[in-house]
Amino acid sequence: MIVHNTIASLRAALADAGRVAFAPTMGNLHAGHISLMRQARGLGDTVVASIFVNRLQFGPREDFDKYPRTFAQDCALLEEAGVAHLFAPDEGELYPSPQQYQVYPADAHEGILEGASRPGHFRGVATVVAKLFNIVQPQVALFGKKDYQQLMVIRNMVRELDFPIGIVGCDTVRADDGLALSSRNGYLSPLERAEAPRLAEELGKVAEALRAGSAEFGALEQAAVAALAAHGWQPDYVAIRRQTDLQPAQAGDPMVVLAAARLGNTRLIDNLEV
Ligand code: PAF
Repeated sequence: MIVHNTIASLRAALADAGRVAFAPTMGNLHAGHISLMRQARGLGDTVVASIFVNRLQFGPREDFDKYPRTFAQDCALLEEAGVAHLFAPDEGELYPSPQQYQVYPADAHEGILEGASRPGHFRGVATVVAKLFNIVQPQVALFGKKDYQQLMVIRNMVRELDFPIGIVGCDTVRADDGLALSSRNGYLSPLERAEAPRLAEELGKVAEALRAGSAEFGALEQAAVAALAAHGWQPDYVAIRRQTDLQPAQAGDPMVVLAAARLGNTRLIDNLEV
């Protein structure tokens, strides 16, 4: 695997790379990321990954400074997963001057769920992903479904701005007890880690009721919120939405149940497609 710190070096290396499959990350890689890389191998001639902790998508009181950075370990994992080129720019390379031109997702896509709790987050994500797409110019790009709203925003950005890139959503990888893998799981104390699978369990109950034909969306959401709160969580939302744009679902829509809740100081998100 060749590590590129500059746009020029990456572009030169990709000049005759054939079909490029690209998976952007912020590093601190786990089995979920590695599964993206392995799927990428089946989708292109050359697999490119990026590691860049993007300040633009973190709020002023969020964890940009303490976000885990494990570059040497990440490189070993990417190499083993068959990544040919890693783009790992520093901030000066990607943002040589303040980023005054940015991508603003539709209000209806950005102002809900995660976007409501994290103002500006999806603008930061869309802006850096648009830049990375222009730098790497992949034919296909892979994103985890764990960040379901991010995947939805990127799909819509690509469609509305005519990026010639296929977007592939990859299934969430879970620990044996059901907890969705996430870099932020590392913040959990042992007691919190033991409690954390409840988020996926409650989502599972809602998904099961929906599959059984329940249309009591509000009651299902409230029951899951109450169950989490009763076990010491501070839930932000449990929401039954339609998959394509995460607006409130009607019976018959392909649906997804999404949740965000704080356990101690750690905010976890998860979702299940129905
Ligand atoms: O999902 C992530 O790790 C980030 O949001 C992404 C897509 C790499 C953009 O910084």
